[in-house]
Amino acid sequence: MDPEAQGPDIHYYMIRGGSDKKNITVWEPGMVGSEYIKTYGHYHIIDFKETYWIIEGEGILVLQMRKKDASGNFIDNEIESFKALKVKAGDKIEIPSFAGHLLVNTGKTWLVTSDDSPVHFDKGDSASMPQHADYEPVRKMKGFAYYIIEKNGQPELVKNSQYLSVPEAKIEKFKKSWF
Ligand SMILES: [Fe+2]
Repeated sequence: MDPEAQGPDIHYYMIRGGSDKKNITVWEPGMVGSEYIKTYGHYHIIDFKETYWIIEGEGILVLQMRKKDASGNFIDNEIESFKALKVKAGDKIEIPSFAGHLLVNTGKTWLVTSDDSPVHFDKGDSASMPQHADYEPVRKMKGFAYYIIEKNGQPELVKNSQYLSVPEAKIEKFKKSWF
């Protein structure tokens, strides 16, 4: 939200094991300016459902689905649906196919997740840039359609003005079915 904002040098750590061994992500608690620490966020370029297990802590899962043009290509600055869901240790979440996703640590402890996204070390996969994921639309749009900020000690959504069309949204409790 604010490229000049101050925050810790490292926001999160990843150990990548892939679909079988699983991947572990650990978020630092804290802020970057008024924004909670979050992962970068990405879209999958292949059709698969990724599962996240929340192991420790609490946070907000952010999901967004882009609109498509007449040829069926995704439009990066037009969002069809947006969800900000409160999650905590014990929750198991399935990311819908092609939904952009990121996680925000709103708690005072580390947020720790396990996930089953694939790793292809033989095709040049690295921890930060897995081959199945596209980070470019997120970089281009300077984040997702809403930022999660702290206001009066509570998380709140702030619209990202880079987007052309964004549905209204509020922070909700995680339920098994969305989209
Ligand atoms: Fe993913």
